[in-house]
Amino acid sequence: MLRRAPRNDNPSCVVIRAAFVYNPSVERIRILGRNDLRLKGDVRISGSKNAVLPALAASLLTSEPVRLHNIPLVKDVFSMLKLMTELGLEYALEGTSLTLDVPKILSEEASYSLVKLMRASFLVLGPLLARFGKAIVAQPGGCAIGPRPVDLHIAGLQRLGANITFEHGYVKAEADRLQGADIRFEKKTVGGTEHLVMAAALARGETVLRNCAQEPEISNLCELLIKMGARIEGVGEETIRIVGVEQLGGADHEIIPDRIETGTFLVAGALTRGDIHLTGTEPSHILTTIEKLRYSGAVIDVEGKAIHVTGSAEIRPQDVTTSPYPGFPTDMQAQFMVLMTQAAGTSIITETIFDRRFQHVNELLRLGATIEVMGDKAVVHGRTPLSGAEVIATDLRASASLILAGLIASGETIVNDVEHIDRGYERIEEKLRGLGARIDRIRE
Ligand code: UD1
Repeated sequence: MLRRAPRNDNPSCVVIRAAFVYNPSVERIRILGRNDLRLKGDVRISGSKNAVLPALAASLLTSEPVRLHNIPLVKDVFSMLKLMTELGLEYALEGTSLTLDVPKILSEEASYSLVKLMRASFLVLGPLLARFGKAIVAQPGGCAIGPRPVDLHIAGLQRLGANITFEHGYVKAEADRLQGADIRFEKKTVGGTEHLVMAAALARGETVLRNCAQEPEISNLCELLIKMGARIEGVGEETIRIVGVEQLGGADHEIIPDRIETGTFLVAGALTRGDIHLTGTEPSHILTTIEKLRYSGAVIDVEGKAIHVTGSAEIRPQDVTTSPYPGFPTDMQAQFMVLMTQAAGTSIITETIFDRRFQHVNELLRLGATIEVMGDKAVVHGRTPLSGAEVIATDLRASASLILAGLIASGETIVNDVEHIDRGYERIEEKLRGLGARIDRIRE
């Protein structure tokens, strides 16, 4: 039997949650870097943060238990569980397997105090609405990497027949039963696609979603929904067709490996001219990054679910433009930029997905990098020796880039505001230490 998780009487949860009980203002990551550092060894990749968050929201669509495996034990997962517990979720976590059960709804309101922690929590709106006919969810608001509106989510739900109003920073949605519709996204949106697929799964009749984002995390969600009884065609394609069903049931499902964590460790290998063996990953989800790293000189061998990276002495400059999957991921832009600071020449990195996603540049400049930002382009001049300094992590992937830079910066680098890294990387300092890095967490 499942137990109410946030109480301190669930041993499996208490142990894990304890890792996240900290005061962010006094936690920092300290790295003792060396420009001749060579990372070597094996690292196991965790489950995908961006795949598990919508899967958690999907469990609201059924009164039967949903069991998920390969859960990354990262802060965003615990924030989402906390929010969903307020809605009526009961869960049990054993190792990296999570059983979710929402037998009845306790509240259809997701408060700002929890939604503001993580934009993906907005995804509970559609499932609550589809199953219970009503939902009130705080608007996510701005974040460090740009305004990130939810207008496409809202417009799509309205097309499915939801009556939506905005009051005091909350989105209130009502519908007796959602009604299938033909919807074209003006712009590719990962969260928007996931949101509408979930809502349409319980709508009356057929929904056709066009110009869908095609990220593997969306396909992973669709596969879960299909196991739950949803009728979905076109998984992984730009057009997805959903025939709504009366109700969905439980399922047992594996979360895909985290392709951004994979890419981050591949960059770590290339950057330190290292020799790293990544296991438990899915190479086919990160092909564009692998290709860019190969052009830059790294030797990358793929075998089944493992990837081996060997960095080369000479890193070649590479221009990179972020774009929706299968293009180069915006979530790898900051890490790749660090690699380019060590390339033999100049690279231009263009960010097309988010407006303000160069905040790591100022911090990299403090470490000695030579980078100029011009609109959506960053011109990165290599090969610049980096020297350790105190820096501030502004968002999740920026934190990862600062840690990578710290590895090869001479002397001590202190990364402040490390709560960002804990949102999406599981035990990053432990994994890097296992490869030979001198990195630890300091609490003052
Ligand atoms: C997801 C990922 C995030 C990744 C991003 C792009 C999760 C939990 N997060 O974020 O790590 O960086 O995809 O790959 O999966 N937009 C609108 N209106 C909307 C929705 C989006 O204008 O209603 C814009 C955004 O501001 C952005 C672009 O569309 O410019 C893409 O955003 P989207 O794909 O929705 O990103 P997320 O799902 O938030």
